[in-house]
Amino acid sequence: MAGPAIETERLTKSYGRARGIVEVDLVVPRGEVFGFLGPNGAGKTTTIRVLLDFLRPTSGRARVLGLDSRDDSVEIRRRVGYLPGDPAFYPRLTGRELLAWLARMRGGVDQEVIDGLADRLGLDLGRTLRALSRGNRQKVAVVQAFMHRPDVLVLDEPTAGLDPLVRLEVARMVREASEEGRSVFLSSHVLDEVQDLCDQVGIIREGRLVAVERVGDLRARSLRTVTLRFAQPVDPAPFRALPNVRDVTAADTTLHLRIGGSPDALVKLAARHEVLDLVSEPADLEETFLTYYRGDGHAS
Ligand SMILES: Nc1ncnc2c1ncn2[C@@H]1O[C@H](COP(=O)(O)OP(=O)(O)OP(=O)(O)O)[C@@H](O)[C@H]1O
Ligand SMILES: [Mg+2]
Repeated sequence: MAGPAIETERLTKSYGRARGIVEVDLVVPRGEVFGFLGPNGAGKTTTIRVLLDFLRPTSGRARVLGLDSRDDSVEIRRRVGYLPGDPAFYPRLTGRELLAWLARMRGGVDQEVIDGLADRLGLDLGRTLRALSRGNRQKVAVVQAFMHRPDVLVLDEPTAGLDPLVRLEVARMVREASEEGRSVFLSSHVLDEVQDLCDQVGIIREGRLVAVERVGDLRARSLRTVTLRFAQPVDPAPFRALPNVRDVTAADTTLHLRIGGSPDALVKLAARHEVLDLVSEPADLEETFLTYYRGDGHAS
């Protein structure tokens, strides 16, 4: 029973001589959401397919809910909701037929649950899969991953092909799963899209896990960009002297700067002058993430 939701140890998968993934060490604690990021061909799908035993590791091992990916794959697949990166379904079935069949294989799911999920995503279950657009087929894949309320969700690019409103709904579904204590491992290309969902993010590049961070730590380290416009030109020196302010540039009546942590001292200093405008832009976590690791020796 004990142990993390997902754990890999020096997990390696080679495709003949081609690189798949190399010595990936990952831990996803129970109840957390882990975002697995990386460019095309980095090894996200390979890692995920090993977890579900669709691929056998070349070396190393993976455990899901304490179960070995190879020895206990039947039990793992029963307890995991899996959304493949390239969902392929029987084209002649309707969404309703396919989901009913999958539901039976998983020991039964109330039709109301399926209808409720389809409804949230705006999916018409009466159409055949062949007749569905790519995004609507993706919705079927999302429903089948969530419908049996699995302990662990493993989602390979869950929002691929979905329009922005549906993406938001899927994000809500992930958040709800997490609030119910379920664990989520999801892959994505961009931190921007998953940062609000994830407790931790990891970056894989060329088959190697190059960085893992708590999103909270990343935020604390990130610098926001602030632009202040005053009625008169101001002396930038006192702004430069603030301990948490960096990169102050002054042009005419405008100051640009970057700030980490609380803006309180900055706001009080600015308030000694007549402030015409103040714009604070949220930190770019991806930039922080990558800058940190480029300077840290971990990066490729
Ligand atoms: N069946 C295969 N035979 C040979 N090489 C493969 C095979 N499947 C994947 N690879 C290689 O393994 C590497 C990792 O691929 P993978 O599909 O895991 O990447 P990914 O991170 O999921 O990329 P994407 O963002 O494009 O989905 C790539 O270099 C890919 O070419
Ligand atoms: Mg992939």
